[in-house]
Amino acid sequence: MPVPAKITAVRTLTELEKLYTIELPYGLTLDHDPGQFVQVSLFGVGEAPISICSAPSRSGSSFELCVRNVGNLTGKMHALQVGDTLGIRGPFGRGFPMERFRGKDVLFIAGGLGLAPLRSVIYEAMSHREKYNRLIILYGARSPREMLFRDEVNAFNWMDDVEMYTTVDCGDENWHGCVGFVNSLLDNVALNPHNTTAIVCGPPIMYKFILDDLIGLGVAEHDIWLSFERHMKCGVGKCGHCQINHIYACLDGPSLSYTEIKNLEEAL
Ligand SMILES: Cc1cc2nc3c(=O)[nH]c(=O)nc-3n(C[C@H](O)[C@H](O)[C@H](O)COP(=O)(O)OP(=O)(O)OC[C@H]3O[C@@H](n4cnc5c(N)ncnc54)[C@H](O)[C@@H]3O)c2cc1C
Ligand code: FES
Repeated sequence: MPVPAKITAVRTLTELEKLYTIELPYGLTLDHDPGQFVQVSLFGVGEAPISICSAPSRSGSSFELCVRNVGNLTGKMHALQVGDTLGIRGPFGRGFPMERFRGKDVLFIAGGLGLAPLRSVIYEAMSHREKYNRLIILYGARSPREMLFRDEVNAFNWMDDVEMYTTVDCGDENWHGCVGFVNSLLDNVALNPHNTTAIVCGPPIMYKFILDDLIGLGVAEHDIWLSFERHMKCGVGKCGHCQINHIYACLDGPSLSYTEIKNLEEAL
């Protein structure tokens, strides 16, 4: 059952994306793993899966969602303001297995809105920085105007223990950074493929190029993790909407290793 949660802050990130801070009622806490999602509902409109983009270590009953306005529910959600209520079920799905990344170079590769789910994983890794070797973030957006979390990306740029690289598909007169698809940033990273875990999240078209490049560089297939997003209804393994062969994206995913999905038809 959804619980009625309150919006306590709304921040416009780009023309299409807003960041919501949500407060659960009755002293409930979300207690999520990085990579999990919630089902967000609006009475009389419907429900949609949205990744939790705040850090799991964030204490208390509030958490953040970054929502792109693409249709019916997300459009209505964009009209909501501080003080408005929405329904929340979850957290659902399998998050990223952070313990398996211990001692590794962790390479985050995000395209567009893919930075939202990865933000939770990045902050989780940062809050236990001593557990990981290099933290490398590659982020690509279509244009400078469409870059998400710009202030945080800038802050990562200045950190000594994080390697941050950004690119845009198409620059503008104020953009002096890299231009090209996100996989082109791999040229900047002296990767040690034998000790690297890659976590990839972005639009489906991005996966093909990234996977070819990572495997070509020698990263093991079981060390490549993806956020595997499918159309969902129930979010809890009952309806079959998200099912491909034996995999239920809502239960077995969204965080899956490449080994788990590489042989699924139409998966990538
Ligand atoms: C695990 C998971 C995590 C997600 N995380 C985020 C997130 O952090 N932020 C965010 O903005 N979006 C996220 N999405 C996508 C989001 O769920 C859809 O954009 C949303 O359901 C669209 O609902 P709507 O009613 O606004 O659009 P509709 O009016 O139903 O449709 C508009 C467009 O959205 C597509 N769409 C509809 N339902 C889904 C769906 N369940 N999954 C993917 N595409 C869909 C349709 O094909 C159509 O092109 C996530 C999806 C999944 C499966
Ligand atoms: S969304 Fe219903 S089974 Fe996965």
